[in-house]
Amino acid sequence: MEPLHGQYTADESVSVRLTVRTPDRMQELGRALAGLLLPGDLVLLSGELGAGKTTLTRGLGEGLGVRGAVTSPTFVIARVHPSLSGGPALVHVDAYRLAGGLDEMEDLDLDVSLPESVVVVEWGEGKVEELSEARLQVVISRTLGAADPCDETGSDPDAKPDPDADDVREVTVTGIGRRWVNQDLSPLGA
Ligand SMILES: Nc1ncnc2c1ncn2[C@@H]1O[C@H](COP(=O)(O)OP(=O)(O)OP(=O)(O)O)[C@@H](O)[C@H]1O
Ligand SMILES: [Mg+2]
Repeated sequence: MEPLHGQYTADESVSVRLTVRTPDRMQELGRALAGLLLPGDLVLLSGELGAGKTTLTRGLGEGLGVRGAVTSPTFVIARVHPSLSGGPALVHVDAYRLAGGLDEMEDLDLDVSLPESVVVVEWGEGKVEELSEARLQVVISRTLGAADPCDETGSDPDAKPDPDADDVREVTVTGIGRRWVNQDLSPLGA
């Protein structure tokens, strides 16, 4: 997954940007992410419909070694995937219809301890940040039409358009809060 630009900023956040070209790669990124996560971590996934949030979470569930397939929860807002190996459970939340934010999430009365779980929330921006004093913010965007600076053919006006260009995603992972200050995010780019 290239390129990787690690950057530390003064406001206690650390950030990397990745280019993810296929759904498989997105799942791979999820597995790599799982390797960095600890019980109590909160991950917020943003990006338009079909950006790849659930695909990433699927890999994350594999990496954590949890039970049950990670799918788009159509009728459920949250699903708990217990660990198969004594590690943290994965709590996968789709906050799309969660208008009330945190209160509503607490009302879900999930039968799980959040401090002992990894909590991943799709569409959670502006709704569930208060669950934790630190969070990992993952923003996925489509890059359709954006020229790839590493791609030499991009400057050739006669070059055929890349049929897979529609699949390319730009992913920015930002750790916010002290939990992430000295965390090395470079394994995500491996
Ligand atoms: N590079 C890529 N990374 C991730 N998904 C990709 C990529 N290229 C194509 N796709 C496709 O985009 C779709 C992503 O769907 P997914 O359910 O993961 O999105 P989502 O962000 O969870 O959407 P929603 O907001 O509806 O929950 C899948 O069909 C996947 O195969
Ligand atoms: Mg989804």
